[in-house]
Amino acid sequence: MPRLNRILRPDAVKTLDEYLAMGGGEGLKLASDMDPLEIIAMIEASGLRGRGGAGFPTGTKWRTVAEMSTDRPVSVVVNGAEGEPGTFKDRTLLDNDPFQVIEGALITARAVGATDVVIAVKEQFDEQIARLRPAIAAFEAYGLEDVELRVVTGPSSYLYGEESALLEVVEGRPPLPRVTPPYRRGLADGADVRNEASEVALAGETSGAGSTAVVNNVETMANVTYILTHGVDEFRSVGTDATPGTAICTISGAVPHHGVAEFAMGTPFWNVLDELGGGAVDDHTVIGAISGTANAVLTADRFDTGLCFDAFADTGSGLGSAGFIVLDDHTDLAATAHGVARFLAIESCGQCQPCKDDGGAIADRLDVIRKSDRTAPADIDNELESLFGTVADGARCGLASQHQSAVASLYALACTATGSHLSGELAPAGLELIAPIVDIIDGVAQVDGRHLDKQRDWSTDGEDSTTAPVDLL
Ligand SMILES: Cc1cc2nc3c(=O)[nH]c(=O)nc-3n(C[C@H](O)[C@H](O)[C@H](O)COP(=O)(O)O)c2cc1C
Ligand code: SF4
Repeated sequence: MPRLNRILRPDAVKTLDEYLAMGGGEGLKLASDMDPLEIIAMIEASGLRGRGGAGFPTGTKWRTVAEMSTDRPVSVVVNGAEGEPGTFKDRTLLDNDPFQVIEGALITARAVGATDVVIAVKEQFDEQIARLRPAIAAFEAYGLEDVELRVVTGPSSYLYGEESALLEVVEGRPPLPRVTPPYRRGLADGADVRNEASEVALAGETSGAGSTAVVNNVETMANVTYILTHGVDEFRSVGTDATPGTAICTISGAVPHHGVAEFAMGTPFWNVLDELGGGAVDDHTVIGAISGTANAVLTADRFDTGLCFDAFADTGSGLGSAGFIVLDDHTDLAATAHGVARFLAIESCGQCQPCKDDGGAIADRLDVIRKSDRTAPADIDNELESLFGTVADGARCGLASQHQSAVASLYALACTATGSHLSGELAPAGLELIAPIVDIIDGVAQVDGRHLDKQRDWSTDGEDSTTAPVDLL
């Protein structure tokens, strides 16, 4: 199936006038004439699932927030913190057309009764901030009623994208995840005291006067605009029953061409690999792909799996944010497993001791293995298995379990490959840097080299203090 240009437009939209001339703004106009519950019903009927990684049904999230928020302020927070290795689609979308993302956020605000819309991005996303700020100003000049729109910038941490940590950052605090229910207490309206939102209360609980927040990914917001503008049937005209619509995929790793493109959900993965990545590198054989650092490897024998949250989950992998890092027969899988474990061990905040300590121990053992260190303990495999079993114990957020999905599956694949590091059959492998993409230039993803300096205590200027970030912040 060919690539599509449904929400990822063929050419960047430069001004609001240009956007309006192409039919932009129609979705918001329609939403303004609808009852909020009708908008929510429309999004439910569309079957839209969040594109931030978990595939949570957007309409269900909105209905819960709306029902729980009749007596409290609501905020809409657009998650543009994109920091998962392998993923570059939200920044591409914001560069390409920030207007449809803002329009989607305004439609969401209308649906859930919010008067505050925050678009949260990383402070280093200069190009996207330079697109968003004038776009917001243009929307404001166009005339918005009672909606405050603002861009909030935050740190480069992976955890900033985790939605409860995102709310913490918007509140001016470090990116430390709260507890993990899907519906959140929201923002504290500028108070400098610790918001009850940061405690364990869920939006669904009736006690307290805190605000609620609906957090949605950038691509989810663009899809909301598409649905209101073109209708449910048109939205569902591509995709699968379980995951209607399109996915904006990123491809990097062992392919000739790295890039971002939009495909119908249901498109077999091999089609994305060929069409966007250009297939295998000459004389190499592709053996698998991993969606970011959050899911198990999709092995090549399952490449006929269509883009779909359920179909990917059925293979034991996950679609995540459709940011695929491709592996081939020249990839050192133990080094890749170490690269992912290293990334997660550094990015862990340490609020949950097994995540920081066992995650660090996993990274350390894989480091020994990829270096073909013959002094490695004989039972290192058993140690790893035990650490994979405990690393997510009591975890507050999804980062810890990424060791169990992504790292464990990469290591299992390494163990089935011909030759091993510990037997001396494989030469020591260099460090495989797994870190966020900062740009894609001429078909080559540029990975954030600054991550090489980042320590597990989140310092960047020397030795790790061995104190967890949460204790330093
Ligand atoms: C460690 C971690 C990092 C995450 N990073 C992002 C991110 O950069 N962008 C994003 O939209 N969601 C990210 N998520 C998922 C969010 O927590 C949340 O599910 C999402 O923003 C909800 O939006 P959606 O329903 O539109 O997908 C992350 C989750 C975890 C556990
Ligand atoms: S699971 Fe890890 S990253 Fe998430 S809150 Fe706990 S320690 Fe922090």
